[in-house]
Amino acid sequence: MTKDEFETALIHGAFDVDAATGALTAPIYQTTTFRQLELGVEQHFEYSRSGNPTRGVLERQIALLEEGDFGYAFASGMAAVTALLCLFGAGDEILIPSDLYGGSFRLLDVHFKNFGVSWHIADTTNLDALEASFSDNTRAVLLETPTNPTLRVSDIAGVARAAHRRGALVIVDNTFLSPYLQRPLSLGADIVIHSATKYIGGHNDVLAGLVVLKDTELAERFSLIQRSTGGVLGPFDSYLLLRGLKTLSIRMDREGESAAAIAGWLLDHPGVDRVYYPGLKSDPGYTTNQKQSEGAGGLLSFDLNDSYSVKKFVSALRVITLAESLGSVESMACHPATMSHASIAPEMRAKMGISDNLIRLAIGLESLSSLKSDLAAAFSAAKLK
Ligand SMILES: Cc1ncc(COP(=O)(O)O)c(C=O)c1O
Repeated sequence: MTKDEFETALIHGAFDVDAATGALTAPIYQTTTFRQLELGVEQHFEYSRSGNPTRGVLERQIALLEEGDFGYAFASGMAAVTALLCLFGAGDEILIPSDLYGGSFRLLDVHFKNFGVSWHIADTTNLDALEASFSDNTRAVLLETPTNPTLRVSDIAGVARAAHRRGALVIVDNTFLSPYLQRPLSLGADIVIHSATKYIGGHNDVLAGLVVLKDTELAERFSLIQRSTGGVLGPFDSYLLLRGLKTLSIRMDREGESAAAIAGWLLDHPGVDRVYYPGLKSDPGYTTNQKQSEGAGGLLSFDLNDSYSVKKFVSALRVITLAESLGSVESMACHPATMSHASIAPEMRAKMGISDNLIRLAIGLESLSSLKSDLAAAFSAAKLK
C-alpha cells in the first residue's frame, strides 16, 4: 500500500458509511448479546465475546492497515500478548531480545513458564548471533523494532528468513512505529501485535491491544483463543481506537518531525552524552530502519551528562509530563531506571544499556519551540554546580 492509499484507508478503510442510517461514524453496538432467529442456525453475531460489530470494524481496519487478513482486538496490549502466547505449549521455546517490553517478559518468565513454555535471549539485531540461538524446540522469535528505551533496530526480513528456515514464527510488536511507518507482515513476519494504548489510540484515553496475522490456519487457532480467553476490547473502546486511527498519519508525521529535530538538537548539547534515535544518521540502527520503515517515529532517548541531576531535570519539565506511556498527543518523559525498568536488576539494566542517566522522551503534538524551551529550562535547572 502506498502512503497515499494508507492515508485514505485511515479514513475510509474498513468503514465508510453506515448502510442503515448514512452515519459517517461506525455505530457503537453497546450490547452483549444478539437475538437468534432460529435454533441451530449459526449467526454472524451471537454474543459479544465472540464478535461485536463495532469491534469487528476495528479488527477489519487494523488488518487492512497492517496488510494482513485477520485482526483481533483486546482489552490491553498485555491481553493481546497473553492470547498470543496461548499459541504455544509445553516444550516450546521463544527467542526474545534482552530489552523486550518488561510486561511481555514477566508474562513469559512468571506465568507461561508454569505451562512449560520457555524463553531465551537472542540478539535480534545481529543475524549471525540470532542464527546461533535457535534450537530444535524454537517455535517463535518475538521482537520489537525499534526497542524501548534504547531504540535498537532489528532487520525484520532477515529475522523472518532465519526463523522460517527453522519452521519458527516471527512475531513483531509494532507498537513504536505503527503500520503508518512499518508493516512487518509485508516484510515477512507472521504476526503483528500492538499495545494500541500508544500510537493507535493516540490520546492517552484507552487501553487496548491488537493482533494481526495472515495465515488462515493460524487465524482459526487464534480466533478460538480470543473467544476462549475473552480479554476482548469493549465497543466504546473500539470506537475510541477507530477515532484515534483516523489521525494516525498526521500525528505520526508531526511527532516524528519534532522528535528528529529534538534528537539533532540534543546531539549537540553539552549536557548530553549519547542520543538514541534511529532517525539520526549516526545511529547504529539508521540503515536498517531506513530500509524497512518510513520513519523513525516519535520516541527518543538520551544519556544526561554526569554534571546534571536527572531528578532535577525531570522535575523542571513543565510542558513535557513525567509519565509512563508514549504515543499520545501529550509529550512525556520517562526515567527507565526508576520507572518502566525499575523491576530489572541494576546489573541486567546495565547489560541492556539502560544507564541511571537515561531519559526517554515520547514526543507529542505541542509546538517544537515550546518543547525545546522546556528541555532548555530543564537543562539549566539540572546543572550541578
Ligand atoms: C512494546 C509494548 N508492548 C506491549 C505493551 C503492553 O501494552 P498495554 O500497556 O496496553 O497492556 C507495552 C506497554 O507499554 C509496550 O510498550
